[in-house]
Amino acid sequence: MDSITRALHARVDDTHAKPAVTPLYQASAFEASSPFFYTRKSNPNIAEFEETVRTLEGARHGVAVSTGMAAIRVCLDQLRPGDEIVVNSYVYGCSFKLIQRLAARMGWSLKVVDLSEPSSLKQFTPKTRMLFFETPTNPFLKTVDIRAVSSAVKALNPEALVVVDNTWATSLFQHPLEHGADISLHSATKFFSGHSDVMGGILLTDRDDLEEACRAERFYSGAVLAPHSAWLLRRSLQTFSLRMEHHQQSTKEMARFLRDLPQVTRVYYPEVDGHQLMGYGGIIFFDLRKDLVGRYPDFIARLELFGTGTGMACVTSMVAQPYTGSHASMNDEEKAQMGLDRGTVRLCFGLERLIDLQKDVKAALEHIDMQQR
Ligand SMILES: Cc1ncc(COP(=O)(O)O)c(C=O)c1O
Repeated sequence: MDSITRALHARVDDTHAKPAVTPLYQASAFEASSPFFYTRKSNPNIAEFEETVRTLEGARHGVAVSTGMAAIRVCLDQLRPGDEIVVNSYVYGCSFKLIQRLAARMGWSLKVVDLSEPSSLKQFTPKTRMLFFETPTNPFLKTVDIRAVSSAVKALNPEALVVVDNTWATSLFQHPLEHGADISLHSATKFFSGHSDVMGGILLTDRDDLEEACRAERFYSGAVLAPHSAWLLRRSLQTFSLRMEHHQQSTKEMARFLRDLPQVTRVYYPEVDGHQLMGYGGIIFFDLRKDLVGRYPDFIARLELFGTGTGMACVTSMVAQPYTGSHASMNDEEKAQMGLDRGTVRLCFGLERLIDLQKDVKAALEHIDMQQR
């Protein structure tokens, strides 16, 4: 046989290699006898990532997809023309835009209501087929009572699906399925990754029919998580609880610290009730004193430890203005309706020493206050 042919077929028998951790399966296809068959269906790294998150959140099933937005899209694919979808007034800008675009194209009726207000339950109807919300919300960290909204909508339509974007609370601090949600989803790009170097998403459910529907949607749409991303995410999850405990501690302390600064008029921190939301960490919002709002560019320029841009939930801290960042895809009127203006600042705390973060933020706020005088 020619050496070229032999080289093409050369393989090492790794049956007895027994690596200490699951290696990266950078393969698109598997032998016909393998349960994995084709990576668009699944692979060992994807399955291991799913198993890890499923275990953390106490869910029966996990279905990993390419990004957080892909996870939301897979949920929305469960809707049919004419269905009614209720979305919380406070959601990530791209989630809202995706729902709004699809609603127009698919003939869904879209209702935007503040689900943190008990009176909003009156807006549900027997035609409501999906509730979509984050809790705590982006922005403002308002909390939604998952049990209350689930019971109310299912009393009117037992087929209604309750979908919670659990990205910000994370699997460590909140288990939406235990409170009546049908699907809990995550942008794994955020705290699960924790290092700003990988994108991913995951859907969790206790229902076999929904797992099957999500897997089919992933397979046919091609929105599968890449094996290398799954491998990186699994690796990051090994330190997830340690990172989250650190984020929680810094976030609590920073919220207290910011409340006492004269340049800050309001700090947003979620209600940690110890029942639905068992803890919280990573991200807070604050409002700049009115006269300082125009100084936001000087504020971020003066910060030394906070990176700018859309990234968050990583080992280093980030600052952002939701008005021009996470919610840029919404128009001015939509932002005004949710009460979002240029004075609201988002801070995401990394793993730096708390004292250094406090000094940095204080110095930048004092700097713009001095400029203003
Ligand atoms: C709450 C929330 N959900 C979903 C997403 C979308 O996730 P991805 O960027 O992984 O598609 C984001 C992104 O910032 C988010 O903050």
